[in-house]
Amino acid sequence: MPAVRDYPFQWFWDSCFHAIVWSRFDPARAADELRGLLAAQDEDGLIPHVVFWKDDLVSRLRWHHLESRTDGRLPFHRTPHTTAQMQPPVIAQAVEHVVHAGAGDAFLAEALPHLERYYRYLAALRDPDGDALVSVVSQFESGLDFSPAYDASVGARTEHPLELFLRTRLPQLLNKLANYDLRTIFRRYRHHQEDVLVNAVYGQGLRALARLAERAGREATSRWAARTADEVTAALLERSWDEGLGLFVNLAGPNERRARVKTVHGLMPLILPDLPPEVAAALAGHLDDPRTFGAPYPVPSVALDEPTFTPDHRVRGFRFIWRGPLSLNTNWFLVHGLRGHGFDELADRIAERSRTVVERGGFNEFYDPLSGRPVGAKRFGWATLVVDM
Ligand code: GLC
Repeated sequence: MPAVRDYPFQWFWDSCFHAIVWSRFDPARAADELRGLLAAQDEDGLIPHVVFWKDDLVSRLRWHHLESRTDGRLPFHRTPHTTAQMQPPVIAQAVEHVVHAGAGDAFLAEALPHLERYYRYLAALRDPDGDALVSVVSQFESGLDFSPAYDASVGARTEHPLELFLRTRLPQLLNKLANYDLRTIFRRYRHHQEDVLVNAVYGQGLRALARLAERAGREATSRWAARTADEVTAALLERSWDEGLGLFVNLAGPNERRARVKTVHGLMPLILPDLPPEVAAALAGHLDDPRTFGAPYPVPSVALDEPTFTPDHRVRGFRFIWRGPLSLNTNWFLVHGLRGHGFDELADRIAERSRTVVERGGFNEFYDPLSGRPVGAKRFGWATLVVDM
């Protein structure tokens, strides 16, 4: 569970991060964490974003049914066991950590068939225009729920809480009406997006899969994964790099409309080892720039000079997360990405500030990037990634 009170189920990318942290202390426990996800894999290959291990906590009044497939005749009839949504595909990275930490080839043999099916599902069913970038069908699949990167694409023109709520949930209602059938959704609606964060994590995941498959002697899979990873980087550079902003941007709908909002998404391709040095340098420049992402406590989820930036996890008293506060999972990605491109000093600075916010405020869901004060849920799992920076 990401946090016992606020998030009482198993979330996909949270669990991957928990496993990465567990792998440093207890590889067997780490492997178990991931087994919980693998056990929930769908027939089509999706590993869902939430597994409702405690079904008495599943509520019709919240997002639980809305984000899930209906297997009965009536839409809100049977209690779902999982959602029908994805989250950023960081599971190959997690398996690689756990295998290296000591779970070894036995766990690899167990996990690899699941990973293959999962990444092939993403490539085959999530890329309707065949440009190598995968699409999310709701912003809640990106892991960055209410980020202003999505505001324009869903038609949210003001930050009025009711407008934000209705506009962001409407695409999910349409998905539910299509019972989360991806082909129907892509054919019928225009609300899918090629999300930079999701695709950067996907590209990095494919590289991990290529290495794992090679280790297991599955050469065809390894070659496929490496080739697809190359295509992801090339497609991001070609379609989503915005020279003017010096950042990558999300692409909305079938026409790939650019969402020119400066959010942490745009920095995420730093985790790709094959990013050209001048592009990596432009991203690193933003992390050093006090006007955009070089906050006193980096890395804000929205650039400080964006009109939507808010240091809190609330908008006018209502909970709308990812509109400014920093999170330690994106910091973890960026710290390692910076190191991979030789920006060690900048990486050390972000890691050091990350430790400071945890030492002062505990393991928290978010922190205010101006003051370092903890905001959002307390005793939050992935904040422990700070031990792996
Ligand atoms: C929120 C976050 C998402 C996370 C979940 C559980 O929905 O946006 O990224 O996985 O909480 O922590």
